[in-house]
Amino acid sequence: MHRRFFAPGVLAAASVLLAIPASAASSAPGASGIGDPYYPAYGNGGYDVSHYDLRLKYQPATDRLEGTATLLARTTEDLSRFNLDFLLDVGEVQVNGAKASFATSGEHELEITPKKALAKGSHVTIVIRYSGVPSGEKAYGFTSWHRTADGGVAANEPEAAWWWFPSNDHPLDKATYDVSVQVPDGTQAISNGTLQSTTSRLGWTRYNWRSNKPQATYLATLAVGKFDITTGRSESGIPVVNAYSKDLGDNDGAARASIERTGEIADWLAEYFGPYPFNALGGYVPNTNTGYALETQTRPFYSPRQFAAGSNTQVVVHELAHQWYGDLVSVSGWKDIWINEGFARYAQWLWSEHEGEGTAQEIADYVYATRAADDPFWTVRPGDPGPDNQFHIAVYDRGALALQALRNEIGDEDFFAILKGWTQKYAYGNASVGDFRAYAEQVSGQSLGSLFDTWLFEPSKPVAATARSASI
Ligand code: ARG
Ligand code: ZN
Repeated sequence: MHRRFFAPGVLAAASVLLAIPASAASSAPGASGIGDPYYPAYGNGGYDVSHYDLRLKYQPATDRLEGTATLLARTTEDLSRFNLDFLLDVGEVQVNGAKASFATSGEHELEITPKKALAKGSHVTIVIRYSGVPSGEKAYGFTSWHRTADGGVAANEPEAAWWWFPSNDHPLDKATYDVSVQVPDGTQAISNGTLQSTTSRLGWTRYNWRSNKPQATYLATLAVGKFDITTGRSESGIPVVNAYSKDLGDNDGAARASIERTGEIADWLAEYFGPYPFNALGGYVPNTNTGYALETQTRPFYSPRQFAAGSNTQVVVHELAHQWYGDLVSVSGWKDIWINEGFARYAQWLWSEHEGEGTAQEIADYVYATRAADDPFWTVRPGDPGPDNQFHIAVYDRGALALQALRNEIGDEDFFAILKGWTQKYAYGNASVGDFRAYAEQVSGQSLGSLFDTWLFEPSKPVAATARSASI
């Protein structure tokens, strides 16, 4: 399910090859990228995936992952060939039941040539058998697979899928997922959504997870290790499944004291953002040393480090806010990262206010005052930060300042109506910074061009902390 950036070029040369059948004559290879200017090779052109069925087996002792991915897709062009993004070793590919040939290219491209060209608008079933050692694979010099003492974890942004399943790796192509993973008895496999069942046989236990709402590829996660799994329900009725590595040491108590509040925090966020959009909820903490958390859909990934100083509900609020801002409504391109991070940060400010630890306005004033005009912080443009600054603190903090400025400009009533209405308008889809500005202008009836330019696009410190201060 995705919206394309541009129509790929048509192979004009094909029309001179009069001898070949019409359908083949007009088909051409799909593009090797979906058209995101920040990451030209991410995602692919010519088709749209609706469902990923991943049936895998993972051995922690060797970090070996193997299995079969079945993708249901629909072509959006006549295709002689198409690409997926993937790093592990592919043994066999079938397209619509017939063996297809394949090759690798670039940093993470898998090129698949079906026996027969695919006509535009047709349903395609792609079966890929593969195996590999994810920790041994790098692309652009890095890995998003974190091997642990008793397993491994795939979690990163914007790229995590390459290390564990072949995909059309861009948020524009969302799909549903069934993730079934066999692990040695006594080990657990954690993924998104609902645990449908577990079955044991011959020393292996299979975990069957289902995420049944559109989900971006980077929001799909897999963690294997020895976990303690807790279950419950939020007051509003959403089933909660949390998982804690049994190897969290001193951080175990603080992690639980934070993440066990997931139901409460999601219910609180729903008052601002609208009903919780998925039917599963939770969080998991593997025994990694990763520096970030990630809003993996329905079940965010947390690093033990986030709980080193004690409980940290701020990170839980941040990742759960992303369930609306990032997961329900996803970026159209990676330049739109502010519509994720600015809002998740602003939710943290609202939570501070709720907890009596400073109002959003007080925190905004503080951030503004403590960043001097010559701080490079102000050179980052949250509305289009560039790929190297996608997760710069300015996208978060200056991004949230922009929202405080908007709130002061249009007033609380319109501001909070926008926070809620936006998630409905673009539910389960994609949107851009420009779409947000247009929506804010529509709801408020005001022209907001200069406010957005000042706070999101100027490479310098705005003259007033907020519109409120400016109008005093
Ligand atoms: N969306 C994540 C968060 O704000 C950020 C992930 C940053 N990724 C990274 N590799 N540093 O929670
Ligand atoms: Zn975030």
